[in-house]
Amino acid sequence: REKINILAIESSCDDTSAAVLRGKEVLSNVVATQKIHEEYGGVVPELASRAHQQHIVPVVHQALAKANMDKRELSAIAFTRGPGLMGSLLVGTSFAKSLAMGLSVPLIEVNHMQAHILAHFIAEDGDGDGPQFPFLALTISGGHTQIVLVRDYFDMEILGETLDDAVGEAFDKSAKLLGLPYPGGPLVDKYARQGNPDVFSFPKPKVKGLDFSFSGLKTSILYFVQRETAKDPDFIKKNLKDICASIQKTITGILVDKLKKASKQTGIDRIAIGGGVSANSGIRKALQQAEKDEGWTTYIPKFEYCTDNAAMIGIVGYFKYLEGSFADQAVSAKARYGI
Ligand code: KG4
Ligand code: ZN
Repeated sequence: REKINILAIESSCDDTSAAVLRGKEVLSNVVATQKIHEEYGGVVPELASRAHQQHIVPVVHQALAKANMDKRELSAIAFTRGPGLMGSLLVGTSFAKSLAMGLSVPLIEVNHMQAHILAHFIAEDGDGDGPQFPFLALTISGGHTQIVLVRDYFDMEILGETLDDAVGEAFDKSAKLLGLPYPGGPLVDKYARQGNPDVFSFPKPKVKGLDFSFSGLKTSILYFVQRETAKDPDFIKKNLKDICASIQKTITGILVDKLKKASKQTGIDRIAIGGGVSANSGIRKALQQAEKDEGWTTYIPKFEYCTDNAAMIGIVGYFKYLEGSFADQAVSAKARYGI
């Protein structure tokens, strides 16, 4: 059978990415991250959009070259339609539409959140099949925090999500309060690994059902830092590792508690996680523990498929291609786009 070659484009936030897939196999996955936002301590939408415009052509060229693929061999172009920042989405959407038109190949629109979940189906050495349906997916990144019941490739239901900050934001904002540079999540993790998580305690929010809230944690860390540094200006410096470990333990606990609740409620014990925060060592350890204690089977994709990337857009493109589910040229970006 003829192989399906998909070029995928992702530009929903601050990473410009292009990937080439042959079937479920990733031939290339190029990501250009935008350093500019570091100076501002967060993503500046207008700057993100401008950077996408600069990056998109070279990134696509590089993805094709790395895959050793001529653009005339492409079967379809897939792109992120939403959710995300409008100005950023428009760059990828317009580019994908014109390329598909120029090459006379089908256009496939992809929901970014579905892509984070279906990234588990990217073929990798020995495990191209992904979790069996139904499974629970926890997507955790700087922009998302959701527990999703996945019944089939395109049959998903959000069981819970954050009412305020995303988990990644909770890590980054905590880091900022401790004087760490943006994005501070990986640094909190680094110090946490050397600290004692039981030295300080932070309250866990009381949120109904399977939803999350992280703004209260941020406030309690703010008060904690103010109170302690008033007594001793060097408090943070002296206790950084233990503070980070305690914060990480609190956040991990919030996530795992809700996952346990979701698993009990649905009777599903296959748990898949994705998004940049899946790199966190505390969360990974807690999941390994739950495999033993709860009898779960857990799935974590390779890190490059956890953070925003076009390979995950390509795998959704592949499944939609098989279904003949194509978009027409009138399709437009959608900043708010349900799963
Ligand atoms: O998925 P991602 O790369 O981008 C989006 O936000 O979509 O996720 C980035 C987020 C940032 O908030 C970053 O601080 C966090 O993931 N992050 C981590 C770790 N690695 C990345 N947070 C905690 N521990 C980590 N090891
Ligand atoms: Zn994302």
